[in-house]
Amino acid sequence: MKNLKDLDFKNKRVLVRADFNVPLENGAVKDDFRIKLSIPTLEYILKQSRSKIVIISHLGRPDGKNVADFSLKPVAQTLSKLMKKEVKFIGGIKSGEGDECVRNLSDGEIALTENIRFYAEEEANDEKFAIDVCHHFGVYVNDAFSASHRAHATIAQIPRFKPSCAGFLMQKEVEELSKALKPAKRPSMAIIGGAKIETKLPVIENLAKIYDVVILGGRISVEAKEKNMKFSPNVVLPEDFAEGNFDIGPKTTEKYKMAISAASFVIWNGPMGKFEEKGFRRGTDEIYEAIVASDAYKIAGGGESVEYINMKNGAENFDFISSGGGAMLEFLSGKKLPGIDALENSI
Ligand code: 3PG
Repeated sequence: MKNLKDLDFKNKRVLVRADFNVPLENGAVKDDFRIKLSIPTLEYILKQSRSKIVIISHLGRPDGKNVADFSLKPVAQTLSKLMKKEVKFIGGIKSGEGDECVRNLSDGEIALTENIRFYAEEEANDEKFAIDVCHHFGVYVNDAFSASHRAHATIAQIPRFKPSCAGFLMQKEVEELSKALKPAKRPSMAIIGGAKIETKLPVIENLAKIYDVVILGGRISVEAKEKNMKFSPNVVLPEDFAEGNFDIGPKTTEKYKMAISAASFVIWNGPMGKFEEKGFRRGTDEIYEAIVASDAYKIAGGGESVEYINMKNGAENFDFISSGGGAMLEFLSGKKLPGIDALENSI
C-alpha cells in the first residue's frame, strides 16, 4: 500500500475520500472528531505546490436519494473553521454537475462535494460511476479507514483507475491495528463490550486466538450468557451483573480490574454497560480507570467507546484511538478490508 510520501501531488487535482459520517444536531456538526483527524492529510497535500483538493464523503444512510438532513454542507462549514480556510461546497460530482467547479479550482483551493451516498451507484459499487467521479483527478487518496470495510464505488473501485495511496489517518490505523493483531507485549488483553453479539463474534473468536485473555462485558455478554454460547477457555464472561443486566456487577468489575492491572497490552472496544445512563456507568467507569492506570500499551476504538473517552476528555490516556467502528471490528476479525485491498492492488 502506497502512502502520501510515495506519490507526487505537485500541480495535481487530488481526490480525497474521507469519512465525515459525523453526528449532526439542529443542522450543525455535533462531534468533529473524525473531521479533525482528516486535517493532517489535507494540509500535507495543500503544501505541495499548485495542488488542489476535492473531498468526497458519505453521511448517514440516505439510500441513494437526495435527503436534505444528510447534506454535508454543515461539515464544509466545520472543516473551514478548523482549517481556517475557505472550503468550497460542490452540489454534485457526476459529469454535468460539478465539472466546472472542479476544473476551476485554483492552486491551493479545497472543496467538499455533497454526500456521495445520494447516488445509488456508490453503494452498488458501480464501476462506471467510479470512473466518472475520478476522471478529473490525477491522484486519489483514501483517508477513510472507518468506511473501508464497505465495498463501495469511491472506496473499492477508484484505485483501479487512478494512482492511489493511503492518507496519514489510514496509514496510522493500519499500522496500529496491525500491532493489535500481533501484540508485542504479554500478558495481552482484549476487552470487548457493547451490543450486538453477532457483529462482535468474529472479533472475539479471532482475538481469542491471539490474546492471552479476552474479557467480555456489556450487552454482548448478557446475550452470550442467555444464548449459552461457548467460547475458548481464555474468553471470560461476567460472573454478575447490575440490576436489569444493564452493567457488569461488582464482583466481575473487581476481577477484571485485577487482570487489567497485570496486562501489558490492552485493546478495548465497547462499553461494559449502558453508560449513557449514570446509574449503569459504574462498570465502564471502573474498567476505564483501570486501563488508564495500567502501564500497558493501550488501544481503544468503536463508536461508543470513543464517545465515552471523549466524554471523559481521556483521549490522551491512550496510545491509539481508532476512528473505525465496523471497520475496526472487521480488521480485528482478520478480514482484508475492501478499501485496503484496493489500495494494495492500485495501478
Ligand atoms: C461508520 O460510521 O462506521 C462508517 O462511516 C460506515 O458507515 P456505514 O455503517 O453507514 O457504512
